[in-house]
Amino acid sequence: MLSLRSVSASYGSSEVLFDIALDVGAGEVVTFLGRNGMGKTTTIRTIMGLMKPLSGHITFKGEDLDGLPADRVARLGIGLVPEGRQIFTALTVRENLVATAANRLGRDNPWTLARIFALFPRLDERQAQNGATLSGGEQQMLAIGRALMTNPDLLILDEATEGLAPVIRAEIWRCIETLKQAGQSILIVDKNLAVLERIADRHYVIEKGRTIWSGTSADLARDRAEVHRHVAF
Ligand SMILES: Nc1ncnc2c1ncn2[C@@H]1O[C@H](COP(=O)(O)OP(=O)(O)OP(=O)(O)O)[C@@H](O)[C@H]1O
Ligand SMILES: [Mg+2]
Repeated sequence: MLSLRSVSASYGSSEVLFDIALDVGAGEVVTFLGRNGMGKTTTIRTIMGLMKPLSGHITFKGEDLDGLPADRVARLGIGLVPEGRQIFTALTVRENLVATAANRLGRDNPWTLARIFALFPRLDERQAQNGATLSGGEQQMLAIGRALMTNPDLLILDEATEGLAPVIRAEIWRCIETLKQAGQSILIVDKNLAVLERIADRHYVIEKGRTIWSGTSADLARDRAEVHRHVAF
C-alpha cells in the first residue's frame, strides 16, 4: 500500500533523512520506532507531502507521491493523527469530527459520528464540549476520530500515546486493535515496545535518518535487547 525507498530529506542545508525504507501492506499494522530527533516525524511529513524528499521514491496504492501537495496526498486516502494532536480548539467535539469528514473513495460502511462515539464513549459524553477544554487523552481520541472520519485507506499515528496516563493509553491501544481487526492499515510512531510487539505485524527502527532494523513481531521478540537499545532513551 505504502512504500518508501531510499528517501532522503532536509530542512534547509541540514539533512535529516538519509536512507529511509518502509512498507505498509493492506491490512497491516506497522510501527516506526526510534529515539527523539531521529527523523520519524520528518519521514511522516515527507509521506504527507508537507516536505519534498531530496531523493528516493514514495508510492501509495501504486501511485507516485513524490512532490504531490499535501491536500492531494490526503485525498488519496492517508489520514494523519499528527504529533501534538492539533485538533481545532475553537470547535466542539462534534464540529471537529464533521469539519474534515469525507468519503472520497466511496467506502462501503463509511465512518459516522455514531461509530466514532461507539469507539470512544468519552467523546460521546462530550459532544458539545469545546476542543480546548478536553483532557490530553480526550484530545488524542478526537484527533483519531477526526482522521477516521476521512475514511482513510492508511491511518498514520505520530506519538498518539505520548504523555498520557496508562489507563488512557490502554483505551487508545484497544481502539487500534479494533481498527486492525476491521482490516485498517495503520502506521504507528510510538515508543511502547511491549504493547506494539503484541499489536503490530511488523516494525522498523530508524536511527539518525536511516532505517537500521526491520522485522516481524517475532523478529522483534528475538532481537528485543538490540531494538530496545535503539529505541529507549
Ligand atoms: N522545522 C525544522 N527545521 C529544522 N530542523 C528540524 C525541523 N523539524 C525537525 N528538525 C530536526 O530534524 C531532526 C529530526 O526531527 P523529527 O521531528 O523528525 O524527529 P522525531 O524522530 O520525530 O523525534 P521525536 O521522537 O522527538 O518526535 C531533529 O534533529 C530536529 O531537530
Ligand atoms: Mg516526532
